[in-house]
Amino acid sequence: MKKSIFFIVIPAILFFSSCQQQTTQSSSSRAVNEKVNKVLSQMTLEEKVGQMTQITLDKFYGEHLDTARLHEYIVKYGLGSILNSHHDKSGMTTALSMKEWRDLQTLIQKYALETRLKIPVLYGIDAIHGATYLKGATLFPHNIAMAATRDPQVVHAAAKITAKEVRACGIRWDFDPVLGVGRQPLWSRFEETFGEDTYLVSELGRAVVTGYEEDGLKNTTAVASCMKHYLGYPVPLTGKDRTPAYIPEIVLRQIFLPPYKTAVDAGASTAMINSGSINGIPVHASKYLITDVLKNELGFDGMVVTDWGDIIALYKDHHVARDNKEAVRMAVNAGIDMSMVPYDLSFYHDLISLVKEGKVSMSRINDAVARILRLKFRLGLFDDPFPEKGTESYYEKPEYKKIALQAASEAVTLLKNDTLRGKPVLPLSKNTRILLAGPGANSKATLDGSWSYSWQGKNDSLYPADVHTIRQALEEEAGKNNVINISPDGFKEVSSEQISKLKKYARGVDVIILCLGEDAYAETPGSINDLTLPEDQLRLAEAAAKTGKPVILILTEGRPRIIRSIEPAMNGILLAYRPGNMGAPAIASILYGEVNPSGRLPYTYPRYTGNLMTYDMPVRAAKYYKPQWPFGYGLSYTRFIVTSLTGMS
Ligand code: GLC
Repeated sequence: MKKSIFFIVIPAILFFSSCQQQTTQSSSSRAVNEKVNKVLSQMTLEEKVGQMTQITLDKFYGEHLDTARLHEYIVKYGLGSILNSHHDKSGMTTALSMKEWRDLQTLIQKYALETRLKIPVLYGIDAIHGATYLKGATLFPHNIAMAATRDPQVVHAAAKITAKEVRACGIRWDFDPVLGVGRQPLWSRFEETFGEDTYLVSELGRAVVTGYEEDGLKNTTAVASCMKHYLGYPVPLTGKDRTPAYIPEIVLRQIFLPPYKTAVDAGASTAMINSGSINGIPVHASKYLITDVLKNELGFDGMVVTDWGDIIALYKDHHVARDNKEAVRMAVNAGIDMSMVPYDLSFYHDLISLVKEGKVSMSRINDAVARILRLKFRLGLFDDPFPEKGTESYYEKPEYKKIALQAASEAVTLLKNDTLRGKPVLPLSKNTRILLAGPGANSKATLDGSWSYSWQGKNDSLYPADVHTIRQALEEEAGKNNVINISPDGFKEVSSEQISKLKKYARGVDVIILCLGEDAYAETPGSINDLTLPEDQLRLAEAAAKTGKPVILILTEGRPRIIRSIEPAMNGILLAYRPGNMGAPAIASILYGEVNPSGRLPYTYPRYTGNLMTYDMPVRAAKYYKPQWPFGYGLSYTRFIVTSLTGMS
């Protein structure tokens, strides 16, 4: 008797509790929708279009903040959203202190409360591997390195920390995760992807979205996520950023769409659209992709924002619209809810005219504004739009660095470990005398790459002092006496002087460690014509090989630079990708065997520039799949074999 009750009572409790949960969720979303409709019903057309307008912070900065202009845009035009940081003296968008951020957010929301309906401003920021624009923030490995960890938990933990440091700035919307599947290694944003495998991208994207949103957007540990760049952005045919992509529907649905479906199901609140075009159609003008597929087929009820200036690009770059007004009509009718204009009121004025002329329906406007207001209600902005008390304590916590170190340690991938005189060349012993050379040895930028305390990430002086370079980390581990460094500060072209020094000092050391790869770059400025590692670095490697000393290559790069000509002469190869603030200590701990390398390639490492393939090439191409290293490759210091794998029964 008891048994039967067990089998009836428990399932019933589970059933009713899940119904209860759904009821709670649906009742809370019902309550939000009622509030949204109430505000919407009071709004003028101008106020609605103001909500759909997003302007960059730089618009309000000259030498200093132009409070009059900021006030005008918020109070007179009802500006709905502001993004980004402002430029520094070098003209580069740069990081602000926690206090500067909180003071700025307080001023913005104070102005918003002067508007007729007191609708708060939604502030958005890029924080794609930590809080980019917050001085002292912890920056984690870029996605391409996170993908090498195959560890959703550490990805999730990093996202939660990022959410906390962003929220501590008084900001509640993060333009992240990047869900593009990285299948064009020439692309300058390859480091922002989780690599070439759809499943890996989907699962790690899910980890980020839940990391940002699972606590509930009103919670001070959460931010609204932004799945981007929907979709097909990572595969420009030319490899140059923002140039056309040609993707058959079957590939679009099999490879590039699934990560967005996973993110929608995980509750992603917003989406940002790909600046490029697919099969000749700019995605910003594609009703099929934005409304039919993303909103209707995938059931995405969040808010869709353009990427930077991409409505203007419809006429200026893609030439599919005769002017801004036609571009606005195309984009809003395609399903765009908010325009990252980002410098002027062209969108605002033209959209108001278009609605008055009946070329954009009021129902489309109401749908867009409802999505924006729903997000603002869910984020708690209507309850309290100001930086939340106590969140300052979320900043710069020691445990953040532990997660950054764990992630970097799990990411670094051992690609080669020769046995010399009966012993593997790695790990090193602490008393090994090292000659350290190459542009990556004394560079912080090479470790963090794009979106690191500035847009391009190039400026080492903006990085926290406690972010170590590879040289500093090696000296920390083995003592300065065991490290002879001949590399200049910063990521610089290899000089003939450095090559001469290498030849001179090689005699007195046990091994040569070469730090090669890439300086930091972001977006279009990072476009290149040749994946081959630059000539100056190859020359340094050749000189090192000629010394007859064991040579260990450490690569820090956003994309797989081709090293075919020097690979045979390298005795050990560690790939660190973009390992973040704790990348150097992680590299050092692996070099000395304190950590057993476990990273696995999240992409196919090409051997030739003319052989850029992925692991899942269709059968007739598969015979040409001859990479330097295949997808999933990675060694460890442990020798083990996996045998007689059996399928899940
Ligand atoms: C940039 C990027 C996008 C970013 C946005 C705001 O051009 O493409 O990833 O979120 O503009 O900075």
